[in-house]
Amino acid sequence: MLQGKHILIGISGGIAAYKIPELIRSLIKEGAQVRVTTTRNALQFVTELTLQTLTNARVYSDVFAAINEHSTEHISLPDWADMMLIAPATANVLGKMAAGIADDALTTTFAATVARKPVVIAPAMNDKMYENPATQKAMTTLSQMPNVTVIDCAEGFLACGTTGKGRMQEIDVLQEEVIKSFYAKDLAHKRILITAGPTQEALDPVRYISNHSSGKMGIALARECTRRGANVTLVLGPCSTPLKGGEAAKVINVVSAQDMYQAATHEWEKQDAAILCAAVADFTPTQKAEHKIKKAEGQTELNLHLTLTPDIAAALGAAKTENQWLIGFALETQNEDANARKKLNSKNFDMIVLNSLQDAGAGFSVDTNKVTLIDHTTTHNLPLMSKQEVAQRIVDAISALL
Ligand code: PMT
Repeated sequence: MLQGKHILIGISGGIAAYKIPELIRSLIKEGAQVRVTTTRNALQFVTELTLQTLTNARVYSDVFAAINEHSTEHISLPDWADMMLIAPATANVLGKMAAGIADDALTTTFAATVARKPVVIAPAMNDKMYENPATQKAMTTLSQMPNVTVIDCAEGFLACGTTGKGRMQEIDVLQEEVIKSFYAKDLAHKRILITAGPTQEALDPVRYISNHSSGKMGIALARECTRRGANVTLVLGPCSTPLKGGEAAKVINVVSAQDMYQAATHEWEKQDAAILCAAVADFTPTQKAEHKIKKAEGQTELNLHLTLTPDIAAALGAAKTENQWLIGFALETQNEDANARKKLNSKNFDMIVLNSLQDAGAGFSVDTNKVTLIDHTTTHNLPLMSKQEVAQRIVDAISALL
């Protein structure tokens, strides 16, 4: 994902600096090259040797140090960088950057970067300093700069022992923002609803009927749409695939087909498009037993009475306006093409993504998929690829519609 990208990290003097070496390792693992600039105070929280060892490069922390590789490192580093991440950004550094003050290695480097390269800023401070009107004004000023993204602080336990807003966002959120900075925002201002994962239909308080969906395909779609600037609402059935921070603007966790139906139909009116990737149970037990179903003496079988669940796709298809686009999936095991085309028409989809359990590496749980994109005039067979690449190809097709 970050292969060959040059990422410049600016660290200022907040306790959250201790998390940055871990982030550097993770970015390098993704193929990036990382260089670091710091304020003097940052080196009270994380050592120069740690940063140097991880990046295999000198740390730029002193504008006048005789050992600097170039006499004007605050100019050469921005030329080298594809983007800059400033994390943690203290109240002091935010104020300086917003006011155009450049009086140390980090702030001079920011000043020489911001007009030409994407910059992501992750503030971190005590909650009282966060509430300072000057800090708020600095964050607003910075977020209005064309190349700048400010990742607002999280609420939670703060290093000073109190609880409040001021925590730096977790490093997976920071990494996702770094990745997003390399994406064209072709879905900016678009609202996209995505259903993903399985549903669970309760038989009694301890058992349920479900399927093998891991949520991987749907989460990959949410991630791809978000990276491309869309506002994503993800309606997610119970699954263990981790959803990282920043991969969807809103997540609605649901359990049953009925829950998913309620969430999806409630959200649909506000959306430009929906991608229905969830593996929704078609049937649910007609009655959920109040207590655990016990086997009786001599009993050899149990008959379940099942009722059809609401068809989410058909409901959204019926309510669809001419400005909305509906994309469905079809998971088939036989007569794939004919079954998918039948669903394309009966559910009023604009496009259907066909995957077949007959294809090795396709469908449930695996990290790959092999799909065919079918709309009312064209058919595209795609080769086996990762679910993230499949998501990219599906979203390319949707972007052309929107
Ligand atoms: O989650 P993964 O492990 O990554 O696996 C991905 C996947 C195999 C689940 C995914 O690629 C996929 O194929 N999803 C759709 C599975 C499915 O239930 O297909 P279907 O052919 O039964 O349903 C057709 C369409 O109607 C689907 O868009 C489905 O979301 C929708 N549907 C079905 C039933 C229902 N009650 N409401 C619906 O909206």
